[in-house]
Amino acid sequence: DTVDWDPEDAGKGEYDHYMLKEINSQPTTLANTIEGRVQDGDVVFEDLPEGTFADVETVQFVACGTSYHAAMYADQLLRSAGIRTDVVRASEYDSMSGPVDENTLVVAVTQSGETADTLDAVRTASANGARSLAVTNVVGSTAARETDDAVYIRAGPEVGVAATKTFSSQAVTLALLSQQLAADVPDVSPPEDSDAMLESLDALPGHLETVLENSNAESLASDLIDSQSFFFIGNGLGHPVALEGALKFKEITYEHAEGFASGELKHGPLALVTPETPVFAVATGSDSKTKTNAIEAQTRGAPIVAVSPDDNPLVDVAEDHLTIPDTHPVWAGLLANVQLQLLSYYAADELGRSIDKPRNLAKSVTVE
Ligand code: G6P
Repeated sequence: DTVDWDPEDAGKGEYDHYMLKEINSQPTTLANTIEGRVQDGDVVFEDLPEGTFADVETVQFVACGTSYHAAMYADQLLRSAGIRTDVVRASEYDSMSGPVDENTLVVAVTQSGETADTLDAVRTASANGARSLAVTNVVGSTAARETDDAVYIRAGPEVGVAATKTFSSQAVTLALLSQQLAADVPDVSPPEDSDAMLESLDALPGHLETVLENSNAESLASDLIDSQSFFFIGNGLGHPVALEGALKFKEITYEHAEGFASGELKHGPLALVTPETPVFAVATGSDSKTKTNAIEAQTRGAPIVAVSPDDNPLVDVAEDHLTIPDTHPVWAGLLANVQLQLLSYYAADELGRSIDKPRNLAKSVTVE
């Protein structure tokens, strides 16, 4: 007797899809990302001793897709520390980068380390004299080999084409890297609440468990699946989370989804808002504009889903709620993102999509 057995399916274990397995692995993969990197209240990266970035004056992040959203997160953290920084879509590097010199650190954020657009951007920056750093998941990848330094996000191999656990590990790695940059770069100092941020990092894997065990994303996805379009809004650190939520949703459900900065909703996208367009409003504590703009959409009939801790004022007005534990705003965004990962997964599952291998997409795009 023989049974049909696809070796690719073997690694899924109890899960129907790699994506769900990878979403659920995040308490472990994040613990791995963090391990040993905060010691006695200080950030420690092997191979990047204190003072490594003492010559850095400006930072430029280059990345694509999900990695770009993680880079946006880091860009905001550096800005709030007073570091001059920019985040550039790697495919637009030639027109958007501006000048670089030996005091510019170009950070290539790339899970695979093989994305052609990102490699091309960092090669251009290096040729123009910038110093380079890869933040990647893959040891020995082209990005890791070609840059001056590499930091690994330690998320383990990701099989699902839609990035999930690697986004979380990128964001945490980059948040820690931001702390080190703020400590090393002359004339800036880490933001006031950085001790609180590092202290609350220990609790993050446990908070992730809580989200994964109690999420109502599956029933919400099934309630809303017949909608026409799905909008995601957030401001501050909620903005990259909203963009990532929309990207994930369109990648695997093939439904129309868009992410906006909360305050931009009224500058055009509001024309699309109807009772058929639910708005997922990410509110993690570092935002002020999300509630008022969500109400603008609600007035036009859109159902609002608050993605926030229970005590956020948005919860009182929203029709539905994807809850996250109370924590530092920097980590709250990651927890909100995990709720949105689950939402996309269950919506795509309900629609019978090819979740691990969505049509037209590749895990790593090696052409420009
Ligand atoms: C492709 C993948 C995305 C990924 C992007 C960047 O488009 O489908 O999921 O975010 O490449 O990949 P990288 O390996 O550079 O992070």
